[in-house]
Amino acid sequence: MTTPKGIILAGGAGTRLYPVTAVASKQLQPVYDKPMIYYTLASLMLAGIREVLIISTPHDLPRFESLLGDGSRWGMRLVYQAQPKPEGIAQAFLLAETFLAGAGALLILGDNLFYGKMHLDALVREFTEGAVIFGYPVRDPENYGVVEFAPDGRVLSLEEKPAKPKSQCAIPGLYLYDHHVVAMTKRLKPSARGELEITDLNRLYLQADKLRVVRLGRGIAWLDTGSPANLLEASMFIHTIEARQGFKIACPEEIAWRRGFITDDQFKTLIASIPKSSYREYLERLTRDEA
Ligand code: DAU
Repeated sequence: MTTPKGIILAGGAGTRLYPVTAVASKQLQPVYDKPMIYYTLASLMLAGIREVLIISTPHDLPRFESLLGDGSRWGMRLVYQAQPKPEGIAQAFLLAETFLAGAGALLILGDNLFYGKMHLDALVREFTEGAVIFGYPVRDPENYGVVEFAPDGRVLSLEEKPAKPKSQCAIPGLYLYDHHVVAMTKRLKPSARGELEITDLNRLYLQADKLRVVRLGRGIAWLDTGSPANLLEASMFIHTIEARQGFKIACPEEIAWRRGFITDDQFKTLIASIPKSSYREYLERLTRDEA
């Protein structure tokens, strides 16, 4: 199978963060020292994905484009697509049909932050067919998609925000699908709230016996950015680790360089184009310390 392509879904109204979202959408808000979308982009880059479609509202899309550009400076190809109305997470695959051109897809929701060794690169490399989603223990599963397991580990059910969750295991906003994803999405009907539900898509794969759920352990951080308090906590988390280690989390320039998406010379030219800032100093330090 050809390498799956990446999709970042970064639309939605973001009303829970009002008034900050009146000037810039949620996924452009800072999480400590960089815009939220950097973290999702970094997750895809670390998965070895270099072609990414960014989907947002017609209003916000130009801002993402001016922030991230065509991705070439990071050795990436970034493409943009508007979602006129928030008609469901799974709609991303219909919008992405031309971009995917028959490839599979790794979809990440633009407000989902992951930290820790998830071995996404190996997962993507070894992926051949079906769908892979994740399971993560949380205290409030009723706010998420929830997966129920049989004692032998088989998946029994998937439910979207159930009033009475059958387990504590929430489904994070990171999903890997094979090249059937567009055709599978076309079989979905809008839910009662008028959306093409990602949980319904996952259920189709489950019914076809093509769904795998990878359980993420406690060593992985999956952070919420849904409320002002969550956003502050996520910022403090990133700050704590960066301050302790002296390394930045989710720095696209660094990932592009370390992963060989760009050469040493391209990295230096890139640094020279960045305004004087602690961000630039960090990158300069990397070239000195690790030359
Ligand atoms: O965060 C993981 C959860 O994401 C999953 O556990 C759920 O199964 C899944 O439905 C989703 O739940 P949310 O309540 O977070 O979905 P929400 O409608 O808030 O959308 C998630 C993000 O995707 C949000 O930042 C906005 C964006 N979005 C959403 C929809 C429905 C779009 O860009 N377009 C859309 O049409």
